Amino acid sequence: MKVAIIGGGPAGLYSAILLKKQRPEADITVYERNRADDTFGFGVVFSDATLDNFEKYDPPSYRRITQEFAYWDDIAVHFRGTVHRVGGNGFCGCSRRQLLLILQERARELGVKLMFETEISDEARFADADLVVIADGINSRFREKHAAHFEPDVDLRSNVFAWMGSTRPLDAFTFIFQETEWGPFIAHAYQYEAGRSTWIFETDPETFERAGLTGLDEKQSADRMADIFGWFLEGHPLLTNRSMWRNFPMIRSQRWVKDNMVLLGDAKATAHFSIGSGTKLAMEDANALADAMRGAPTVKAALATYEQGRREEVEKTQHAADVSLVWFEHVDRFWDFDPVQFAFGVMTRAKAITYDNLTLRAPEFVSEVDKAFARHVRGQGFDVDVEKPLAPMFQPFRLREMQLANRAVVSPMCMYSAKEGVPQDFHLVHYGSRAIGGAGLIFTEMTCVGRDARITPGCAGLWNDEQESAWRRIVEFVHANSAAKICLQLGHAGRKGATKLMWDGMDRPLEQGGWDVISASPIPYFPDSRMPREMDRAAMDRVKAEFVAAAERGERCGFDMLELHCAHGYLLASFISPLTNRRTDDYGGSLENRLRYPLEIFEALREVWPSHKPMSVRISATDWAEGGITGDDAVQVARAFAERGVDLVDVSTGQTVRDAQPIYGRMFQTPFSDQVRNEARVATMCVGNITTSDQVNTILAAGRADLVALGRPHLVDPGFTMKAAAWYGAADTFCPPQYLPGKEQIFRNSVRDRQDFEDLKIKAKPKTRAELKAEATKPLAAE
Ligand SMILES: Cc1cc2nc3c(=O)[nH]c(=O)nc-3n(C[C@H](O)[C@H](O)[C@H](O)COP(=O)(O)OP(=O)(O)OC[C@H]3O[C@@H](n4cnc5c(N)ncnc54)[C@H](O)[C@@H]3O)c2cc1C
Ligand SMILES: Cc1cc2nc3c(=O)[nH]c(=O)nc-3n(C[C@H](O)[C@H](O)[C@H](O)COP(=O)(O)O)c2cc1C
Repeated sequence: MKVAIIGGGPAGLYSAILLKKQRPEADITVYERNRADDTFGFGVVFSDATLDNFEKYDPPSYRRITQEFAYWDDIAVHFRGTVHRVGGNGFCGCSRRQLLLILQERARELGVKLMFETEISDEARFADADLVVIADGINSRFREKHAAHFEPDVDLRSNVFAWMGSTRPLDAFTFIFQETEWGPFIAHAYQYEAGRSTWIFETDPETFERAGLTGLDEKQSADRMADIFGWFLEGHPLLTNRSMWRNFPMIRSQRWVKDNMVLLGDAKATAHFSIGSGTKLAMEDANALADAMRGAPTVKAALATYEQGRREEVEKTQHAADVSLVWFEHVDRFWDFDPVQFAFGVMTRAKAITYDNLTLRAPEFVSEVDKAFARHVRGQGFDVDVEKPLAPMFQPFRLREMQLANRAVVSPMCMYSAKEGVPQDFHLVHYGSRAIGGAGLIFTEMTCVGRDARITPGCAGLWNDEQESAWRRIVEFVHANSAAKICLQLGHAGRKGATKLMWDGMDRPLEQGGWDVISASPIPYFPDSRMPREMDRAAMDRVKAEFVAAAERGERCGFDMLELHCAHGYLLASFISPLTNRRTDDYGGSLENRLRYPLEIFEALREVWPSHKPMSVRISATDWAEGGITGDDAVQVARAFAERGVDLVDVSTGQTVRDAQPIYGRMFQTPFSDQVRNEARVATMCVGNITTSDQVNTILAAGRADLVALGRPHLVDPGFTMKAAAWYGAADTFCPPQYLPGKEQIFRNSVRDRQDFEDLKIKAKPKTRAELKAEATKPLAAE
């Protein structure tokens, strides 16, 4: 077998080693345009988990690599004169040059041919090769040459960065967030060998420009960085080596394989440096290729296996990298946070690290986070314990005069079980049991303001006396038997009206018994949906009056709060999104115009809704579709409602157009809540695939939302909050006297359960290499 490998970086060399081990008879050559020791960059960083992989795949190179490594466990976050350290992270660093020399030596030992100073310009010279590995790095000539086939997508990010080095010793992975007169600068720094550390500097393009960095050469810009970070460098120099400022390209390729050619490493896909090195991805690609080649009947089959098997892992890493880089791009959002909350945000930015996870690893740090959170709550006039604070989920919250006992919320969920809009016994049991279950706030399902405003024949309404008294019964039950507050969500289905019950076909038009539907513009939801009538002024006035009448009924029912539903493609959402609003009058066109009618309704409701009671608005913060609403628009929408007195923005997304392409995942809508809260400076509630109280605490502690709503988890678990209260020891959580023995039991058991869980976690966690090294070098105790 003949293998040609273009590029002698980590991907090229490691794949050569693994393939040669697997097939000693194969003729494998690596072609590298540079000289053997002619390498750029300073250090590379690997997690313990990555090193475990190296050990598995090639013990000799693993041993040599780890002999050269610097180990550390802590992450240190420097921000506004404070430093917060979090242990238990398990990282290692080594010099990139040293790493490549080790891999070259190992490859040579195995019989791989290494051709340095050999630039490849045409793969045709490898016509007789069985396999061509394209590992030519981030600017891959061959990926671009065959761009029509590989279909790369290069997303050049807005922040600029430069890699430098220093002799400054570091005992932790160090983040420095530095305020300057021009704006924020960030340093990501770590030691990779004795007396050598890597420094990546990052800033936004405006700060870069204001700091006068444009046009400076390497030395001049290093001097400028040394001025800014001089207080930390303590006289150590900054070193440069091709340290030019650039924008990070997030590269994704549709295809990684063409005939017998395969893309590996940076050539195929990149991951932002803030979640670890691209070197890790490059070397793990080589592992995956070797796995696929082992026992495959043909090279073609092996390459198909490689691509299929590896893609999900790479995309997951890239998604985490995206989330992380966006955090760094918007660091100014958090600049006025309490430093410990800021540090918590840094630690949890990419979702992998959570509140509970940090509680195990760094209990003092989390205790500080809790205290800062509680201090803030105390500052708002609540008499909460700051010395032994409850977890953020169990801190109270106030909107106008409504006080919530905790921050867990039952998200609005249509039950499709009303009769002619009248809530039934099902609703009483449904809302009643969730209120007793401990959530601080319960939302009603979308309650429709008129018969024709319903989504389905099973939707609840509030346009007549019978409905009013049924809702009053539910509200009175909730108030009499729980500490929960209850919010009425009012809405109008718009073009999604006259559709089937959820279990008969979500959003599908009714075959019989439908009614006329209206919308901002005459665009049906599905091609075969009922054609909506474009609302004229008379229709707008009529619907507005319906909303006002329903709100007045809501007040008579005793609801504590009112939400206006402007999300998910229903009537008011259809005005806001440019994809569903094609009007040419004052209610179409600019975002300002598209918001006019929803704001008009909001103002009319605010006028009749008692001023001591809060109001929220639910928005779809993105359409997840080309040309639709984006997070930036959502900030404008939130600001417009806030100016008119909204107390809380309930940040959901999508469901506005059929051809949306949402990116689902854990807590997938939380970044939008974060953006709206910290840019528009308005209280938010987030929701969407949040399933654990650990996630609730992570979101709240990081300042990404003020309240957290859970929908589906509450459908199967009305006692979600009570269980979390037992876990976190929130003993004051209200429980009606009938259920107290159950509460006592769960609280008693949870102390033991939690201890068992923590012991198990600690036992299951292998020691980090830094811990092992520290143990091995510990001096014997003095006699
Ligand atoms: C300036 C810079 C500094 C970096 N510093 C660090 C760092 O300090 N720490 C870290 O973890 N990561 C660093 N990275 C990122 C890291 O180097 C990459 O993620 C990782 O090396 C990817 O490995 P690779 O093998 O896919 O590509 P590369 O390491 O880029 O290797 C590709 C190789 O192909 C060669 N090549 C390209 N075209 C041809 C051709 N036509 N013919 C022959 N040879 C060719 C190149 O010379 C290069 O040696 C840095 C990246 C850059 C651009
Ligand atoms: C059965 C069901 C009905 C829903 N009905 C409504 C509704 O009436 N009004 C609303 O704003 N959202 C509604 N939603 C959306 C939820 O409020 C929530 O945003 C969504 O389920 C995502 O949260 P989750 O992942 O916690 O379930 C509904 C969701 C479900 C599962």
